[in-house]
Amino acid sequence: MLELAKRNAPIKPDILLPKPADWPEQMEKRLREHGARRLNTIGIERTDRAGREKLRLMNFEFYGAPCAVFLFMDGSLPEWSLFDIGLFAQNLILSAHCFGIGSCIQASVTEYAKEIKTFLNIEKNKKLVACISMGHPDKEAKLNTYRSVKKEADEFMYWHE
Ligand SMILES: Cc1cc2nc3c(=O)[nH]c(=O)nc-3n(C[C@H](O)[C@H](O)[C@H](O)COP(=O)(O)O)c2cc1C
Repeated sequence: MLELAKRNAPIKPDILLPKPADWPEQMEKRLREHGARRLNTIGIERTDRAGREKLRLMNFEFYGAPCAVFLFMDGSLPEWSLFDIGLFAQNLILSAHCFGIGSCIQASVTEYAKEIKTFLNIEKNKKLVACISMGHPDKEAKLNTYRSVKKEADEFMYWHE
């Protein structure tokens, strides 16, 4: 996978999630700020293409985690099943957290779905939805010191009384 990613082999994920042509303004702003802060934490300049490429490739080494979990769904299932898998992923991650194990959900690792299915001997009709890298977090690693800024509940919730 790393070799494919290194030479930018054409990607073919099972789940195609095209980016919206126009992000809602607020979301685009948050996305841009998040990207900049994340790079800043690990000391990579926005203009540092080599540094950014190195970071991208780290995805394909599971950020150094010893374990990667791949979530598949049967190809005959409707889109709603993605919601169920999302719930499953969240529960898995929270359970792992209780045992001191950190996780990183990665959509990028689904880009080479066909090769992963061949390697893992998974039926072709299954769709690769996500990868979750898991391991004991290295608390000293710069990347792990990054915390994304969350909105306060009041900023996105509306209580109707
Ligand atoms: C569906 C999904 C796909 C993601 N794909 C990636 C990815 O490919 N690479 C990556 O470094 N982070 C990816 N992330 C982000 C990390 O998993 C993120 O650190 C995690 O969601 C925690 O969010 P937070 O940093 O906002 O607290 C993804 C998150 C989600 C929910």
